[in-house]
Amino acid sequence: MQRLEETYRRSLEEPEAFWAEAAGAIEWDEPWQRVLDDSRAPFYRWFAGGRMNTCHNALDRHVEGGRADQPALIYDSPVTDAVATFTYLELRDAVARFAGALAAQGVEHGDRVIVYMPMVPEAVIAMLACARLGAIHSVVFGGFAANELATRIEDAKPKVIVSASCGIEPGRLVEYKPLLDAAIDAVASKPQRCIVLQRPMLQAELDPQRDVEWNDALAGVEPAACVSLDATDPLYIIYTSGTTGQPKGILRDNGGHAVALAWSMKNIYDVDPGEVYWAASDIGWTVGHSYTVYGPLLHGCTTVLYEGKPVGTPDAGAYWRVIEQHRVCTLFTAPTAFRAIRQQDPEGRQIERYDLSRLRALFLAGERCDPDTLKWAEEQLRVPVVDHYWQTETGWPVVANCIGLERLPVVPGSPTKPVPGWDLRVVDDEGTERPAGEIGPLVVKLPLPPGSSPTLWNADVRFHETYLSRFPGYYQTADAGYVDENGYVFVMARTDDIINVAGHRLSTGAIEEVLAAHPDVAECAVIGVADALKGQIPIGLLVLKAGVERAHDEIGDEAVRLVRERIGPVAVFKKAIVVERLPKTRSGKILRGTMRRIADGDEYTTPATIDDPAILDEIAVALERAGYSRPISRA
Ligand code: COA
Ligand code: AMP
Repeated sequence: MQRLEETYRRSLEEPEAFWAEAAGAIEWDEPWQRVLDDSRAPFYRWFAGGRMNTCHNALDRHVEGGRADQPALIYDSPVTDAVATFTYLELRDAVARFAGALAAQGVEHGDRVIVYMPMVPEAVIAMLACARLGAIHSVVFGGFAANELATRIEDAKPKVIVSASCGIEPGRLVEYKPLLDAAIDAVASKPQRCIVLQRPMLQAELDPQRDVEWNDALAGVEPAACVSLDATDPLYIIYTSGTTGQPKGILRDNGGHAVALAWSMKNIYDVDPGEVYWAASDIGWTVGHSYTVYGPLLHGCTTVLYEGKPVGTPDAGAYWRVIEQHRVCTLFTAPTAFRAIRQQDPEGRQIERYDLSRLRALFLAGERCDPDTLKWAEEQLRVPVVDHYWQTETGWPVVANCIGLERLPVVPGSPTKPVPGWDLRVVDDEGTERPAGEIGPLVVKLPLPPGSSPTLWNADVRFHETYLSRFPGYYQTADAGYVDENGYVFVMARTDDIINVAGHRLSTGAIEEVLAAHPDVAECAVIGVADALKGQIPIGLLVLKAGVERAHDEIGDEAVRLVRERIGPVAVFKKAIVVERLPKTRSGKILRGTMRRIADGDEYTTPATIDDPAILDEIAVALERAGYSRPISRA
């Protein structure tokens, strides 16, 4: 039997023995009593009774074990023209000091700390400092508006918020402090303290009662030691889009997370301790948590923290420059980044300028990888290009080509096969397994492996309703797809209203909630239309209240501004079209899927349940007028 097949079989047939063995990569203060605690099934916990500390395993253990002088983190920032390296010893000391600063502000085990920062080393230091104390961090992406930050503050109720004066987007500074102040003004549960890093390009105004500057917070504090934690204690909360405007607080534990990530670094990514691994993702996303911060450090690698873009900082050679300069062996990014590079440098001229001989593999995730992009990357880089599939909830890959175990042939359009630990199935609406080649909801048989989210922050019921109730005994991924006769998985589409914009996950429902709040809007629908660069982008269709006679363009522009103000620039919401009516089923369900097909110029059938088929023609005309295609043909 092949190595992958055997490992996969063992992970499912003997999960406790499998993961207990993997847990040998982590240092434990006390051994676990049960590898898998199923006493509250379908809520499962891994390594119950075990005690450890994630920060110790990511830093102190390596300092003590001979990696003190090895670079742990390389900060590369083309937007500020800076490069800085922290050895494991330096990073450990910086984290211990900042943990001391947090402790001096009263932060203890179990307290929440929101980290709202750009891609600067202090953001990583703040995350690891929380882990050191057993405080629960929640990193909020900088591209969200104050309102999104506010909902996260209200839910997490942080004792302290760590922020910075600004982030840097090409051509503009993103002022964090006014957004932070507005968010705090809007919530009932105010943090006790905000620690603000003043960056040289912009000084934020501090509130002397509430805010303290990063360096002042460090003054005179004692470094803090690692606190021994239960393996099942939460490490962090990361909010992700739900079907409503209320984001879901995905929880991650300490023990299972450390074990799974450490296992994945060698077996999936084929990286060894001491090598340089770069996940070019913002720390506001789960990829940034798992593979910019925790995974590489737990494994004793050097990680790269990149404050820049794939293009424009300064050009489409930016990634190649980083790979050469820092001797990167593995790059992980989203297909959209490669589409952006290819758009500007289709012949790969920039690639020829750099020495990429150390690069061994490229991993892509976050959205469906179109075969064209995959092929281009393979031809240009001449290394294995691995499309792999996972979600914020799962925390690490569910489907991948595990090149550290056994490299399988690539089938474009497929992220390859389920990863050991993940019992992935395709079912029908009744939950019966589908034969090879037939499409259906993708589900994972419980228990999920270590590292996956055990529940939502303070919301067990919502976790159960969202993920576990539809197909009892299974986790519902909310993706649909199929498995072919060779066991290759194809992920085709979301089954809910989530769309994927430049590798970022957005809820069309949340955008609709914002549009519905416009005083002139009676009803609305948001659909994700195809975009050559970003995969999908959202557009809005608005039905106005009776008697509203203002110019439609003006209302459309206001709607666009409203979404930017309420959700943030990351929504990439640039177009709202006024229409007379929306197509619906007889039971009143808006036919978003059909409208999306019309906008994309795809074939569509008129649903049998439609209330008034003539509305589809009206929509087609409105979309065409707005620059979207008319259907190629219509059944
Ligand atoms: N803080 C503030 N604003 C931000 C931001 C941040 N951290 N990140 C993005 N934005 C803003 C952008 O400036 C842009 O604003 P604009 O409307 O004023 O132009 C808007 O949000 C949309 O951003 P984005 O969709 O990222 O577009 P872009 O044109 O800036 O960049 C790519 C396009 C493809 C280069 C970029 O999306 C990318 O690198 N994506 C990789 C995705 C990724 O890392 N995913 C993580 C999972 S692997
Ligand atoms: P996020 O939680 O932001 O990581 O987004 C997860 C979603 O992105 C998944 O549910 C999929 O819809 C999509 N996704 C991620 N990776 C892939 C992939 N390799 N192929 C297809 N879709 C993907």
